[in-house]
Amino acid sequence: MNKIVSKEHFSANVVKLEVEAPLIARSRKAGHFVIVKVGKTGERIPLTIAAADTEKGTITLVIQTVGESSRKLCELNEGDYITDLVGPLGQATHIEKVGTVVCAGGGVGCAPLLPIVEAMHKAGNRVIVVLAARSKDLVILEEQMKANSDEVIVMTDDGSYGKKGLVTNGIEEVINREEVNLCVTIGPAIMMKFVSLLTKKYNIPTVASLNTIMVDGTGMCGACRVSIGGKTKFVCVDGPEFDAHQVDFDEMIMRLGAYNGLGKK
Ligand code: FES
Repeated sequence: MNKIVSKEHFSANVVKLEVEAPLIARSRKAGHFVIVKVGKTGERIPLTIAAADTEKGTITLVIQTVGESSRKLCELNEGDYITDLVGPLGQATHIEKVGTVVCAGGGVGCAPLLPIVEAMHKAGNRVIVVLAARSKDLVILEEQMKANSDEVIVMTDDGSYGKKGLVTNGIEEVINREEVNLCVTIGPAIMMKFVSLLTKKYNIPTVASLNTIMVDGTGMCGACRVSIGGKTKFVCVDGPEFDAHQVDFDEMIMRLGAYNGLGKK
């Protein structure tokens, strides 16, 4: 059981929880995730660790309400307990100094992007963040991104904040004005697909952090199966980050759609 020590609403359906998990706080690295369960029979939800405080022994999770299980998690309050929390899982992000890194996040994907932005910046890279959301009220973590990068470009679909356009418009603006050595993207699968197509056109190495369905988180159940360069990989043990240009996003979107309708036309 892990106690929730603070709760904050980022927007109507996005919540930030700070949870007691001292061992995970100490050992987690950028890119790691946890699997949480609310209630004995609850579904297991994979969540990337957005931040950790080793002194307080807490980790920060950012959750978007997309179904019954995430709704239950978002309804918990300060002082409540999460039934099960397992981690850190997955492979940590490969961090090195490569030059200029564009970090592109969409919606709630901006939360797991934050530790990567921090680590890339600390490693001495010039880091440009492109934050994308449907509208102003869905833009999250802008201040934290600003504090840990060289520049933040905000894109909104409806133009209610920042520049009007998609995440790919923001990335292309950067590509057109300076050399980009690496792109890291986290967001909805369809968004990452189009980021990948764009950067492939410009030959820019790109890493995508995949957010598939997960059940056991140990490589046994196959729920998180994806095709990378024609080979089967498991996001929970081999990922969550992969060479975006090798990911079969269409297959991933179709498999996600089998659960929530996202993959349907
Ligand atoms: Fe079961 Fe990855 S979650 S194999």
